[in-house]
Amino acid sequence: MSEFAGNVVVVTGASEGIGRALCEALAPQGPKLVLSARNEERLEALAATCRAAGAEVLVVPGDLTHEEACRSLVAATIAHFGRLDTLVANAGRTMWARVDEIEDLAIFREVMELNYFSVVNVTMAALPHLKASRGRIVPVASVAGLTGVPSRSGYCASKHALIGFFDSLRIELGDSGVTVTTICPDFVVTEIHRRALDGKGRPLGVTPMQESRIMTAAQCAELMIPAMAQRKRMLITSRRGKLGRFLKIFAPGLIDRIAAKAIADRK
Ligand SMILES: NC(=O)c1ccc[n+]([C@@H]2O[C@H](COP(=O)([O-])OP(=O)(O)OC[C@H]3O[C@@H](n4cnc5c(N)ncnc54)[C@H](OP(=O)(O)O)[C@@H]3O)[C@@H](O)[C@H]2O)c1
Repeated sequence: MSEFAGNVVVVTGASEGIGRALCEALAPQGPKLVLSARNEERLEALAATCRAAGAEVLVVPGDLTHEEACRSLVAATIAHFGRLDTLVANAGRTMWARVDEIEDLAIFREVMELNYFSVVNVTMAALPHLKASRGRIVPVASVAGLTGVPSRSGYCASKHALIGFFDSLRIELGDSGVTVTTICPDFVVTEIHRRALDGKGRPLGVTPMQESRIMTAAQCAELMIPAMAQRKRMLITSRRGKLGRFLKIFAPGLIDRIAAKAIADRK
């Protein structure tokens, strides 16, 4: 039997990118998926695809920067499926501006609101149910949560905060049976780059990435599923990301240069 057959899996940020690809990849295992994001039309289209592939699906649209929406997502899951086994806290956004180009500090707050506070809110609402099911929490952070990246200061800060929160929560959870698998993707082809905020707080509108040179969302999802199934502590999706963990301690100047080159080369 597949690890996620019958498993109640809540996926935030399911309407696009990594969240969407993860739902599509999980669906053939027969999970009970709860799809969340703001765009209901896209969620319903994904729900139809996932049902056809073998999943039961509940769609719960909402803006997760509102605390009430985080609580409602968990409440709707429990009302419909009666339990919650896996929380994939994936909804996120980014920015693309050097610190000296930023005209409005609101950019930092907006990024932090979704990438950090919404994840904390939904996790706190889900925690009693995850303890009851000895479930999994799967926060989607980033390699930018492990090292600095130029033009991403606010994004890096939000992802460092996320990793710090979950490293602490993992210890608190001790032998509760609830595990934390932190996902740290390197660049992935998704909408996030087009939606990135510029120095004026406006979406870029076009992707700055060399999309043919970076991982697809489907490839990222294929790496995530075994890491989630095996309840691994952390998944880093690229070789340079894995190497960076060690370089940061032993050759921090080198990891700074690798991060600068990744942004300069846009891959
Ligand atoms: N792509 C990369 O290169 C990359 C690399 C490392 C880490 N990540 C992380 O991976 C996660 C997924 O990103 P992605 O690349 O798949 O981005 P994406 O394609 O832009 O998808 C982001 C998802 O978040 C949802 N979302 C945005 N604002 C929201 C809000 N206020 N409330 C609820 N949902 C909201 C979006 O749906 P709606 O617009 O319908 O709400 C969408 O489903 C993020 O946490 C990101 O930081 C991405």
